[in-house]
Amino acid sequence: MNIDPRPSVISQRLAGVRRIIAVTGWKGGIGKSVTASTLSLLLAGRGLRTGLFDLDLAGASDHVILGAKGLFPREEKGLEPPLCAGVKFMSVSFFSENRAVPLRGANVSDAIIELLAITQWGELDFLVLDMPPGINDAALDVLRFAGRAEVLAVTTPSVLAREVLGRSLELYRRMGAPVLGVVENMGRGGKPAGAAASLRLDPGLERALGRPAALLKTRFAADLGRAMRRLHLD
Ligand SMILES: Nc1ncnc2c1ncn2[C@@H]1O[C@H](COP(=O)(O)OP(=O)(O)O)[C@@H](O)[C@H]1O
Ligand SMILES: [Mg+2]
Repeated sequence: MNIDPRPSVISQRLAGVRRIIAVTGWKGGIGKSVTASTLSLLLAGRGLRTGLFDLDLAGASDHVILGAKGLFPREEKGLEPPLCAGVKFMSVSFFSENRAVPLRGANVSDAIIELLAITQWGELDFLVLDMPPGINDAALDVLRFAGRAEVLAVTTPSVLAREVLGRSLELYRRMGAPVLGVVENMGRGGKPAGAAASLRLDPGLERALGRPAALLKTRFAADLGRAMRRLHLD
């Protein structure tokens, strides 16, 4: 008998969400967070009701990318995410006060699952999940608990990245998680083999971090905006 009530609580919490997009990648520092944050801003900018959930406990950074200062979820039969630049935003950083969170293994999964169970998203067209790097227990738990999440994989132009990516995609497929597509980040443009799109290295991106309006004007955002159609994100 399954006595864990969380899967059913989480599916109720996510009942009003049309699509869940899990932005993942094989390691840290490859652009998962800038992709997840910018994608959320682009979707919201197109009038779609959008949420962003930063689930990377060790490396939460969407609050910095969006410049979400002084925001905090409201308690209302759970937690209501605050609006940040038109995006409903939830982050593990709200609870860690900018300290690194020294959680390991099962604790990481538990903390993430707990947040999924208490967050009230309401009605959304898209919920973007900024996933923890790699395929570990926490990442697999999120996909399992959230159910029906579509995987958007970020990779970089390297043989190593491709190698790991191939294995990860195979695992997602075996888990039954649909793979929406792969974007190659920090590439040279064009349409790399095996990827839906290339997001070019953008020297202007760093300066725009923390300012959503500026972020939307970067070449990175333009590249991602063009990739959205090919990724069926509209
Ligand atoms: N296409 C790009 N052009 C320029 N800088 C980038 C690009 N993609 C990511 N970066 C930078 O690389 C760093 C890591 O990106 P981040 O999104 O935090 O990676 P991850 O979430 O995978 O750890 C950030 O400083 C980000 O601004
Ligand atoms: Mg990140």
